[in-house]
Amino acid sequence: MKPIQMTRRPLVAALAALSLLASASTALAQAPAKLKVGLMLPYTGTFASLGTAIENGFRLYVAENGGKLGGREIEFFKVDDESDPSKATDNVNKLIKRDNVDVLIGTVHSGVAMAMAKVAKDSGTLLIVPNAGADAVTGPMCAVNIFRSSFSNWQPGYAMGEVMAKKGLKKVVTITWKYAAGDESVKGFKEAFEKGGGKVVKELSLPFPNVEFQSLLTDIAATKPDAVYTFFAGGGAVKFVKDYAAAGLKKNIPLYGSGFLTDGTLEAQGADADGLLTALHYADSLGTPRDNAFRLSYAKAYKLQPDVYAVQGYDAGQMLGIGLSAVKGDVSKKAEFAAALHKAKIDSPRGPFTISKSNNPVQDFYLRQVTGKENKVIGIASKGLSDPGRGCRL
Ligand code: BEZ
Repeated sequence: MKPIQMTRRPLVAALAALSLLASASTALAQAPAKLKVGLMLPYTGTFASLGTAIENGFRLYVAENGGKLGGREIEFFKVDDESDPSKATDNVNKLIKRDNVDVLIGTVHSGVAMAMAKVAKDSGTLLIVPNAGADAVTGPMCAVNIFRSSFSNWQPGYAMGEVMAKKGLKKVVTITWKYAAGDESVKGFKEAFEKGGGKVVKELSLPFPNVEFQSLLTDIAATKPDAVYTFFAGGGAVKFVKDYAAAGLKKNIPLYGSGFLTDGTLEAQGADADGLLTALHYADSLGTPRDNAFRLSYAKAYKLQPDVYAVQGYDAGQMLGIGLSAVKGDVSKKAEFAAALHKAKIDSPRGPFTISKSNNPVQDFYLRQVTGKENKVIGIASKGLSDPGRGCRL
């Protein structure tokens, strides 16, 4: 039998193919693993639209960066937390233990966020809160791996308290949902308002997410305050603004609020929201090149106008990107990740902001007035306002 002969040309081709294969597999072996991001947000209930806007904003930032942050491709996992604190620990554990996520992004509701923060602190999982203002998250529960891209409940309440005291209002009734966000918003408001010479004469509340406002509105009418301060958001805010006008209160007792009262809600509130004054860290008419570019790309991607929740989701993406770039994608380097955020000036559509020692945004609060379908800026309610971070030891 003749030995099999190999001519020179096919041999060279085979060797070249082998070396190509080898370098492709080295490249594959070196590609960092995908970064698993767990989105824990409400997709049902009174805060459903807020959860969707946050996810949209976060995904927009990731898409603008080619699907990668800190050199790692992003893989998403999702849980609907239903804004239900009683399910929160199980829900966050689904993401941590079942899906093995590297990072948690969530959530909207303060009670759910506190349960998330406890699990994040105990497990050491990186958490970025893209809305919930629970003061404790950047207060007594603060940790090197827990950040917020939004606000503390104290902040917009305090900003509006300063504004209303300066207006010379003296006697105010507050009304809100009875849970951390409502209680803390009123507390922040009261601190600034009473420091400025006003008095909170009655604090009204109803359980979250109830919207049976009638008896409370009757109480307001009977008390005849100079004004009302309120915290409601999402579907509850829509109903409250409509009920307040329908009860005939709007023309006699001015209604003020933290800006969640009229953010992402104006289509549904219609003329009943016209003229309302609120304080928030975002508005529809900032008109800066940064915000214009963001609004255009959000509208292109989702055929929707962005709101404060979309901005907070987008900025959670920015914060994750800044931290990950500093640690070259290695989320276990917590101190270096945090140091990068403490040094950063975040180029947000809301305007630049920094991160405090307790990991909460230090930012401007705008005074806004509803004009048609927009929250228009009419002034600065509080410049560079930092949450006091009471009880945080970092
Ligand atoms: C909160 O529960 O912290 C919250 C919910 C909606 C809007 C703002 C704050």
